[in-house]
Amino acid sequence: MAMLGSPDEASEVLTMYIPPTESAEVTLAMLADMGRGTTDDSKTWHEYGTPSIYTSQVLGELASANKLDAAFLFGDLSYAVGYSSVWEEWLDQIEPLASAVPFQVSMGNHEYNSPFDTWPKDTLGNAYVPDRYGGGDSGGECGVPAKTLLGEVELFSGVTIGMVTVVSMNTEIDFDTGSDQWEFIKNQLAAVDRQQTPWVVLTGHRPGLIDSSYGSCDACHGGDNCTCTEGADPSDLGVMAALQREIGPLLEEYRVDLAFWGHNHVYQRHCAYNYATGECTMRSAPLEVNGSTIAVYEQPMCPPSPVHIVVGAAGADFTRNSNNASYSEVVLYEHGFVQLHAANSTFLEGKFIDVVHGSVVLDHFALVRQSGGKSCEAASPEEQEEDLFAGGSAAHVVFIFTVVILAVLAVVLVFYGVTFYFYDRPPKNHFMLREREYEEPRDLDLDQDHLEMQSNVLGSSFRSN
Ligand SMILES: [Fe+2]
Repeated sequence: MAMLGSPDEASEVLTMYIPPTESAEVTLAMLADMGRGTTDDSKTWHEYGTPSIYTSQVLGELASANKLDAAFLFGDLSYAVGYSSVWEEWLDQIEPLASAVPFQVSMGNHEYNSPFDTWPKDTLGNAYVPDRYGGGDSGGECGVPAKTLLGEVELFSGVTIGMVTVVSMNTEIDFDTGSDQWEFIKNQLAAVDRQQTPWVVLTGHRPGLIDSSYGSCDACHGGDNCTCTEGADPSDLGVMAALQREIGPLLEEYRVDLAFWGHNHVYQRHCAYNYATGECTMRSAPLEVNGSTIAVYEQPMCPPSPVHIVVGAAGADFTRNSNNASYSEVVLYEHGFVQLHAANSTFLEGKFIDVVHGSVVLDHFALVRQSGGKSCEAASPEEQEEDLFAGGSAAHVVFIFTVVILAVLAVVLVFYGVTFYFYDRPPKNHFMLREREYEEPRDLDLDQDHLEMQSNVLGSSFRSN
């Protein structure tokens, strides 16, 4: 137990939950683009975070009720943009969550972006780790308040909680192949023991897969000193291309299951997408369970490519730039977060929770992997072949089924000549669903302020992500 303040005027005693480090069932909150909200009319920058008060409330309640193991906020935290009072208000807002469970944050453009000539220099006159894009989205903060107020906020990080490893990258600095960050990500992913932690997640602020036409290199939103050099195009498509080129091979090589992104203030769920080919390697299939529909990505052995989720919906006003991209499966303009629940080594589910209208599940998806992650190490081709026939996988079932059908057809054709038999494939019970919270709409006591706030949010305009 730690205590802040003088002995005569000590702080409130707070209790933090320490989650399991390996091979345990866990529930994580995944969110981005939060901001600061109030339940009255006091607000600094209306479109940046008014509904975030409800995100904080819901997450705080979950954490205090021991229904959450950790939370990950990947960029655009407070939108303080140089106003320290807003940082203080935001810190107060997140206290119920951040004091109860581990709360990992990483940098976004509103923490890090600053014109190139404003970056501080070290004693040798060299710049500190510079912002990749320039612009002025941080209000000149250069990441300093975020790092200072939140302790040792790393530029990038990796952590394992239960059976999930989360590698958090910083899309605002150099991530090109061979850079310090690229090497860090590679080493983190390579070190994962899939026997212990079968699920691997990457987070970053600017999206590696996004359905958006936002931004252009010509505009270089947010600053006068932005230089659109190769690899530093700040448009959504420009950043996506760079991430796919530089980080994509790592996601494929180390079989990352999920990639979470923010920056666009929207919820988008995409297919499992192969960066190299530019195609979906797997789309979800609807599964009806107890009257609700789950979008299931069934992985016979290993993730063919990561499923991409954009969830920049924790509070900032919506970014309406979607264009019905072929890889996009769901687009929602609601505020909330993804509750990620690793039940076991074969089942990982995510629920996008609407926090403004009560805790309603707006999208429910699941990754189902029959192999239990065993074959998702960097296996040799021989080992992969062995795993394919090890039993229990969907590929195995299909293979046996096909052999049986062909054998039956051969016998029938030889001995009877004209009669064909048809078989119905029996349903296979792939997994057990463990429902937790949120099945019923949550009563958040929608008072007049809440409704007015919601109206204002829906009617306000968008500035920048
Ligand atoms: Fe952003």
